[in-house]
Amino acid sequence: MSEAALTVQGLDKTFGGLHAVKQVDFIVPHGSLTAVIGPNGAGKTTVFNLVTGLYAPDSGTVMFYGASLRDQSPVEIAKKGLIRTFQSARIYPGMTAIENVMAGAHLHRKTAAWQQMLWLGSARREERALIERAAALLDLVGLSAFRDVAATDLPMGSQKLLEIVRALMARPRLLLLDEPAAGLNDAETEELAALLRAIRDTGISVIVVEHNMSLVMGVADQVIVLDAGSVVASGSPRDIQQDARVIAAYVGQS
Ligand SMILES: Nc1ncnc2c1ncn2[C@@H]1O[C@H](COP(=O)(O)OP(=O)(O)OP(=O)(O)O)[C@@H](O)[C@H]1O
Ligand SMILES: [Mg+2]
Repeated sequence: MSEAALTVQGLDKTFGGLHAVKQVDFIVPHGSLTAVIGPNGAGKTTVFNLVTGLYAPDSGTVMFYGASLRDQSPVEIAKKGLIRTFQSARIYPGMTAIENVMAGAHLHRKTAAWQQMLWLGSARREERALIERAAALLDLVGLSAFRDVAATDLPMGSQKLLEIVRALMARPRLLLLDEPAAGLNDAETEELAALLRAIRDTGISVIVVEHNMSLVMGVADQVIVLDAGSVVASGSPRDIQQDARVIAAYVGQS
């Protein structure tokens, strides 16, 4: 068995009378790509919010490389290397494409804001290294030509890719992507699939919440199916495609 990047056990969350996440267990092996699928309202985003510390679970544990994340703030959790994107692209308006990517590095800046303002040598060197890294990441997703374009002027597909490379800028050990293919056309989805494989192949573990089944089946090492807050199936993409409960969960969707 390979080492677990993430171990979720007995995770439970209720909002008022709504039991959104029910005794959820799963493991993300180090260096793997796990897809979480399920109908609208199944609890997928809530699981991300619990894992990344945005919400506190009512019960259950989340372990990251064997260490509990209990009572840690979202910033502390991000600093450990759990980096997420949001279901609706969160591009910073008023910033260019490359500035958006560079913003992903703010957690790791070693020079203080006052050093950056005074433009001291160490801050200047750090800035140069960040620009180089951001430019390389833009190149990776084919957006180099747009580095100085206002990010909000880019098409939705490019904004989604930008958000992912901004997350990479934060040097994730585990990357959590909430519906990265939403709003992408077929060609952009293909590009996303290649990017996800490349990320996984560099040793970063990935969890992706996605409705696009051909993307999921094409990239995932394991698939976890949530329905009404519970894990109803998990296994390889092939196992899941044949699982009657999965079909029922989707057929039951209006
Ligand atoms: N902060 C909150 N307060 C109250 N209810 C919430 C909150 N967050 C989520 N819920 C509810 O919990 C349930 C699960 O929501 P969640 O957003 O996790 O679903 P999802 O699987 O991500 O769905 P989708 O595919 O539509 O994004 C839904 O019924 C939702 O309305
Ligand atoms: Mg969601």
